[in-house]
Amino acid sequence: MKETFPGVAEIDGMLATVNLLPGERVYDEKLVETGGVELRLWNPNRSKLSAAILNGLETLPIKPGSKILYLGAASGTTVSHVSDLVGEDGVVFCVEHSKKPMESLLRLCIRRENMIPLFYDANHPYRYASLMEKVDVIYQDVAQKNQAEILEKNADLYLKESGFIMLAIKAKSIDSSKKTDEVIAQEIARLKPSFKILEVIDLEPFEKDHVMVVAEKNAKL
Ligand SMILES: C[S@@+](CC[C@H](N)C(=O)[O-])C[C@H]1O[C@@H](n2cnc3c(N)ncnc32)[C@H](O)[C@@H]1O
Repeated sequence: MKETFPGVAEIDGMLATVNLLPGERVYDEKLVETGGVELRLWNPNRSKLSAAILNGLETLPIKPGSKILYLGAASGTTVSHVSDLVGEDGVVFCVEHSKKPMESLLRLCIRRENMIPLFYDANHPYRYASLMEKVDVIYQDVAQKNQAEILEKNADLYLKESGFIMLAIKAKSIDSSKKTDEVIAQEIARLKPSFKILEVIDLEPFEKDHVMVVAEKNAKL
């Protein structure tokens, strides 16, 4: 077993995170015990963050103690691993606007005290202002046409100076009539005035027509 990032282990080509709640599963992931520590295997076909790390991501700004704003939390598959990574001293604000996934997410937030559920539309970030703090990282996976706009609005309000963004871009949700590369280039160009682009990771073979962008807020702004 080797540690790729703090709290992320690699075992036989699979990633895993240190389970914040030993003995508890979140989805159908396997639990593995090694050296007295319990790990949860992290499926790259279920989580774009796992896919990005396996595909060579070099900058993972999600660290023990980090504060994260997670937009598009769904029922909590990836968020649960982010919750493992930030640990007891960190916090994950989880925004989700659909009722069904929010029901499962709520059950998870009751068990994991570092996760705060926010049942809101990420298009209107000022609506959850009273529940928020400034964060180190915004992680976004909303598969919407206006993905970049949603990110910008949230970053303006909640991202610390020199904070980071991790944006999963789904090209087909933005414009299915254009080529994937063209759509991704257009979205990245849109981010450039406000963010320094650090990495763009293709998520194939785990996700088709998706990339993960990692960028740092432009300190000059
Ligand atoms: C691809 S899924 C996210 C999967 C999740 N990130 C994971 O890896 O476990 C996208 C989620 O974003 C949510 N979503 C889409 N638009 C949203 C918005 N404007 N505000 C909040 N949630 C949104 C959807 O309801 C859906 O649950």
